Amino acid sequence: MIMDKSIEVVVLFLWFFSIAAFNFSLCSGDPKVVCTQRERQALLSFKKGLKDPSNRLSSWDGEEDCCTWIGVSCNNITGNVVGLHLGNPISYSDDEITGENEAYERSKLAGDINPSLLELKHLNYLDLSLNDFGGITIPDFLGFLRGLRYLNLTEAQFGGRIPHQLGNLSSLRYLSLKGDYNLYADDLGWLSHLSSLEYLDMSSVDLHKAVDWLQVVNTLPSLSELHLSSSSLDNIPPSLGYVNSTSLVVLDLSFNLFNCTIPNWLFNLNNSLLHLDLSDNFLQGQIPNAMNFKSLQFLDLSGNGNIEGRIPSSLWNLCNLRVLSLSVNNFRGEIGSARNLSGCIGKSLESLDLSSNQLTGHIPNWLGQLKSLKHLYLGVNSLYGPIPSSLGNMSSLTHLYLHHNELNGTLPESLGLLSELEELDIQSNSLGGIVTETHFAKLSKLKVMVMSWNSLVFKVNSVWIPPFQLEKIGMISCIMGPKFPSWIRKQKSLYSLNFFRAGISDTIPIWFWNLTSHISYISLADNQIHGEISNIRFESKIVDLSSNYFKGRLPCLSPNVTVLRLSRNLISGPLSPLLCKKIDEHKNLQILDLSENLLSGELPQCWMYLQSLSLLNLGSNNLFGKVPSSMGSLISLTSLQLHNNNFFGDLPMSLQNCTYLEFINLGENKLSGNIPSWMGEKTTNLGVLRLRSNEFSGNIPPQICHLTSLLVLDLANNRLSGAIPPCLNNISMMATRRSSDNDLLIRFYDFGHYEENLILVTKGRESEYKSILRFVRSMDLSNNNLSGVIPSEISSLSALSFLNLSQNHLNGKIPENIGGMTSLESLDFSRNHLSGEIPQSMSNLTFLAHLDLSYNNFSGKIPFSTQLQSFSALNYIGNPELCGAPLLINCTRNEESEGNTSVGDDEEESEITWFYLSMVPGFVVGFWGVFSVLLFKKNWRYAYFQFLEDKIEHIYVTSVLKLSWLKRKLKKNQVNE
Ligand SMILES: *[C@@H]1O[C@H](CO)[C@@H](O)[C@H](O)[C@H]1NC(C)=O
Ligand SMILES: *[C@@H]1O[C@H](CO)[C@@H](O)[C@H](O)[C@H]1NC(C)=O
Ligand SMILES: *[C@@H]1O[C@H](CO)[C@@H](O)[C@H](O)[C@H]1NC(C)=O
Repeated sequence: MIMDKSIEVVVLFLWFFSIAAFNFSLCSGDPKVVCTQRERQALLSFKKGLKDPSNRLSSWDGEEDCCTWIGVSCNNITGNVVGLHLGNPISYSDDEITGENEAYERSKLAGDINPSLLELKHLNYLDLSLNDFGGITIPDFLGFLRGLRYLNLTEAQFGGRIPHQLGNLSSLRYLSLKGDYNLYADDLGWLSHLSSLEYLDMSSVDLHKAVDWLQVVNTLPSLSELHLSSSSLDNIPPSLGYVNSTSLVVLDLSFNLFNCTIPNWLFNLNNSLLHLDLSDNFLQGQIPNAMNFKSLQFLDLSGNGNIEGRIPSSLWNLCNLRVLSLSVNNFRGEIGSARNLSGCIGKSLESLDLSSNQLTGHIPNWLGQLKSLKHLYLGVNSLYGPIPSSLGNMSSLTHLYLHHNELNGTLPESLGLLSELEELDIQSNSLGGIVTETHFAKLSKLKVMVMSWNSLVFKVNSVWIPPFQLEKIGMISCIMGPKFPSWIRKQKSLYSLNFFRAGISDTIPIWFWNLTSHISYISLADNQIHGEISNIRFESKIVDLSSNYFKGRLPCLSPNVTVLRLSRNLISGPLSPLLCKKIDEHKNLQILDLSENLLSGELPQCWMYLQSLSLLNLGSNNLFGKVPSSMGSLISLTSLQLHNNNFFGDLPMSLQNCTYLEFINLGENKLSGNIPSWMGEKTTNLGVLRLRSNEFSGNIPPQICHLTSLLVLDLANNRLSGAIPPCLNNISMMATRRSSDNDLLIRFYDFGHYEENLILVTKGRESEYKSILRFVRSMDLSNNNLSGVIPSEISSLSALSFLNLSQNHLNGKIPENIGGMTSLESLDFSRNHLSGEIPQSMSNLTFLAHLDLSYNNFSGKIPFSTQLQSFSALNYIGNPELCGAPLLINCTRNEESEGNTSVGDDEEESEITWFYLSMVPGFVVGFWGVFSVLLFKKNWRYAYFQFLEDKIEHIYVTSVLKLSWLKRKLKKNQVNE
């Protein structure tokens, strides 16, 4: 029995043991492997060299098995460390408010790379991406990590020359040095040793010295992805003897400086290429019609500016193409007919971007067969004819952009079938006809609808409930009225609504004000909308109700409001209810335009509450009193317009705190005292100074001459005395024909812009200058008590277009060099005491369209030129000793009367033509600031067109976009920076 018992025990024991052993092997697989002491020490030393502000390596500590440390991976048999995954785990996302990303920044590792890393003999994976090594060079010794197969240094902030020792990493399959802007390579010979390399990304590394880049890349037989975007590459050979890189699948050479015709070999690389990106270079010439890649899925040649010719039909035969972008180039001719289509393209194409070219002809019907197409961008071309109704068949379409073309006809009802459509932009065409409910029948996903600048008439039933919830609607100059469109009442997702000049002639419904609390941008400007706004509280960021019949007292503003434009309405009462709110209430208000209303009373002393105010226009109201000293607290102010009111007294000294002022218009008041000398000392950015028709007295302070950016100086109709300061030639903006680079005259804000306008008396009459104001250079000192001579320095103001010194007491001669003022279009010296002969050089003033020298004491013969004789005799009258044509007084008996005395009425025509001629280059240069940024951000291009929707004319968009030489110039500059 005992025996039995002991056997039983042994059996039980064995059974137990086997179960336990079985369990053990079940639970932990192989016997537990731990990392070696040596490698653990190496990692600890490596950690010591690092700075780790977020302490994400806290597990790298103590006696623990280092294979369990965060970011460390080991071989599961030997326990050797094989991988270090130390890329920043926090992903970057811009904080909307601070523009920073604190968590991301904090979790960056920094410091040094300790050579102890070399102890990790089996390391094959090293990821240090998105850290911040502060510009140190990539350590040479990384080249000794012979087992390395994966090295990711993406945006790890290494700098300096890439060490050639990396060429020893002969097992490397994956290498990314992307985005380390301070890295450069002088040659890439070392790369050719990486014979296993499959993936290489050196985007944003400076490779402009690496002229051998292509030869080297061509020796890498396994390379399948090559990313060399923004690498300052400028040479690409026209031919490549033998192509070894037959495995290439992805080739990204975008944003480089290639400035040559498209090399043919690129289009015959191999059959496996799927992705070819050559966008944003300076490539020229035509796309070769013969292409070798049958599998291509992605082709981007956009933003080169000069790729030209027709769109080769071979492109339409790439059956696997999913994305085709040819935008911002010079493609001409028609998009093409369907005749040569293989019939397969429609199967795969998802995005087609042909925008910003010179394409003409009709939008082809066959596009309607592209059933997979989601994005169709044809904007900014010269396409004409109707929108084909076949587009209604594109059942996957989400984005349809046909803006800035010459499309005409009506909007096809079939568009109402595009049930996936989210964004529709057809602005700036010549579309007409009626838009009804049918056009939107199935558009339940529509979010963006922009139809501005057409002649479309929107006619829907007053009880219509649209199937969509719009976020943005732009209907500038479409007819939405006369009734206020009631269907928008149910649009609860709107953030932008633009009914500028939309033919609405109605009372504003009360519900509209409730709706606006969600809408960030509202424009109802230029309609005939009635309504009382006294008790309304505006919640939107931007409100433009200009040019309507709104009446009542000023409304309340929430702190959200940044732009309030109520000019040209019937708003009455004092300013104080709007302005004199608690501190912070208006802290975001930047643009306040209340001009041309019926506001009355004095200016309140509450300006200290508007710290952000940059533009204030109270012109043409019934305001009176002194300009309060608290206005000096508007330290952000760039534009101050108080013209055409009844303000009197001296300007407060405190205004000199407004040092950013660029635009001052205080004309047509009763302001008195001296013109403050601080204007030249403090407000040195001043571009427009208009004090016309006040009671200013004293001298013109010579400090005015410090205003080198001045475009317009209008001091006419005051009581100024003394001499004209000779230093006026220091106003360099009037002396050189450069374009004004400060954007004082046009202010862009989210979703729109504010254009300054100014009444100027030019050529003897008042004209309103708006968009062309930035090209004007005008000086008007007329109707004062100025005396002395006209300083000869004035003749160096060669950019000045309008000069008026009439009705003063000036004497002496016209400066001899007046002919140097070659831009003069209008010159008025009448009603002074000037004498002597009219200088011969005046005959150089070939743009002169208006001249008045009447009522002086000029003598002698009027110099002969086509210009001077074309003016009427009246312009010379009152100078008894003057003779010659066009006066009927002959200078000598034998001289025949020459010229004619009649003035052509085409004067006005030529004025306008000249202005537009001279403004094109100016505009382009000035506009460049905005445009340049956009060029570099592909994704912004479309946003930019939407932003242009507001008022900028079609002509600007097309001409600017197509001036590729400018683009080139700019890009070069950017690269050099
Ligand atoms: C050990 O690693 C190898 C290769 O890395 C892998 O295939 C295997 O599944 C791993 N074994 C265990 C038990 O994790
Ligand atoms: C390299 O690192 C970057 C940044 O962390 C990451 O986006 C990228 O996917 C990595 N590359 C690979 C192939 O893992
Ligand atoms: C292409 O590859 C072959 C074979 O691998 C090699 O002999 C030749 O030198 C390579 N050509 C170039 C241009 O690298």
